[in-house]
Amino acid sequence: MGLKAVFSGALLAASSVVAHPGHHEKVYAHAALPLERKSLDHCSEHFSQPEFVERTVEIHGREFARLRRELGLEVEESPKLSPRDYISVSKINHKSNKVVTTGMDLATLFSDAGACMLMPAVDQGPLYVKGEQVRKNITENELGIKMTLAIQVVDYKTCKTVPNAYVDIWSSNSTGIYTGVQGYPGMGDPNDASILKGTALRGLQPTDDHGVAAFDSLLPGHYDGRASHIHAIVYLGATKQPNNTVTGGKASHIGQLYFDQTLIAEIDKNTPYSKNKNKIMQNTADFLFMQGANGDDPIVRYALVGKTLSEGVFAWIRFGVNTAANKAVNPAAFMTDKGGVMNPTGPVSQIPKGGWGFGRLARAIKGGRNSDEE
Ligand SMILES: *[C@@H]1O[C@H](CO)[C@@H](O)[C@H](O)[C@H]1NC(C)=O
Ligand SMILES: *[C@@H]1O[C@H](CO)[C@@H](O)[C@H](O)[C@H]1NC(C)=O
Ligand SMILES: *[C@@H]1O[C@H](CO)[C@@H](O)[C@H](O)[C@H]1NC(C)=O
Repeated sequence: MGLKAVFSGALLAASSVVAHPGHHEKVYAHAALPLERKSLDHCSEHFSQPEFVERTVEIHGREFARLRRELGLEVEESPKLSPRDYISVSKINHKSNKVVTTGMDLATLFSDAGACMLMPAVDQGPLYVKGEQVRKNITENELGIKMTLAIQVVDYKTCKTVPNAYVDIWSSNSTGIYTGVQGYPGMGDPNDASILKGTALRGLQPTDDHGVAAFDSLLPGHYDGRASHIHAIVYLGATKQPNNTVTGGKASHIGQLYFDQTLIAEIDKNTPYSKNKNKIMQNTADFLFMQGANGDDPIVRYALVGKTLSEGVFAWIRFGVNTAANKAVNPAAFMTDKGGVMNPTGPVSQIPKGGWGFGRLARAIKGGRNSDEE
């Protein structure tokens, strides 16, 4: 279809940003090639009725506008057409009017009508630590705005929810710093090995009977060269060990999720986010966002828990996973019984003096894709 033509040639431009997003590289890609051309679009009927309706109106936008006019509802700005592109995705308001409370049945979040909640597959990023704890609350002593993040895992082929998967997430703290990885530019003193002890804002949760895994965390801060985001890997068939870590399994999905730009602007008015000196990169200027949002919607839907943002947010998103996939994961570090250790062949240990070369980037991208053939 026409899409291929639009995206062809974008990979080269894209490649200079993927493995080392930020700092020096200019983001000049106009269209970013998604790593996989699949979404959950075909699953609509299997999901809740309101969502099916929503998806239908997405395709039949004009009818929707007419219907809304007839119902006396204001006509929304031009309805997005499938396939999505990152500009239209960035214009969707993901804020929900749902009343959400701590302790609610999280599965109900996913019957919400509204913007789609799919998460495409992208790069694992340079700051993954393998071997973190299975725990719901990954906040530790970090400060910021509380966020409960619910992720529903769905088999993109059968459209069925996937129980007993392990979702592994990690993000930066409110001032844009990641724990657990030593020597990444901008992430603390490269000579400070105590960084390797850090485990905050990292952890895993199993999906329940409805395929939902939920974490208590904080809204992430931003750092140079990237839009605010959270990373995730979904492991299928992994085993929990006595020390509360997970071993084995297949990495069936690797992704990054994002936030509405309007929400990020609000977040930044609160301390300690307001102390963050890193420049904000807009979603639409972030190559990895483009890659994720060309065809899917990687922005979380959210609702405020109280009256103000500072009281916290509920955020949710649905991942479509390829249960047959076993993606290459190359952690920057491992958390072990001897503490955190850098992975000598990981993306951070491999950063050559003077920066990344194109050849390595191209190989890194290939390496992340080749195990995902169907
Ligand atoms: C998570 O743990 C932190 C302390 O580490 C605590 O302040 C916070 O209230 C907890 N979050 C939830 C939702 O229980
Ligand atoms: C974020 O992490 C850095 C490094 O651990 C720490 O110095 C900073 O205080 C943290 N920010 C907040 C707001 O907790
Ligand atoms: C957990 O146990 C496994 C298996 O014995 C071990 O390899 C790993 O280092 C342990 N992790 C931690 C954080 O203790």
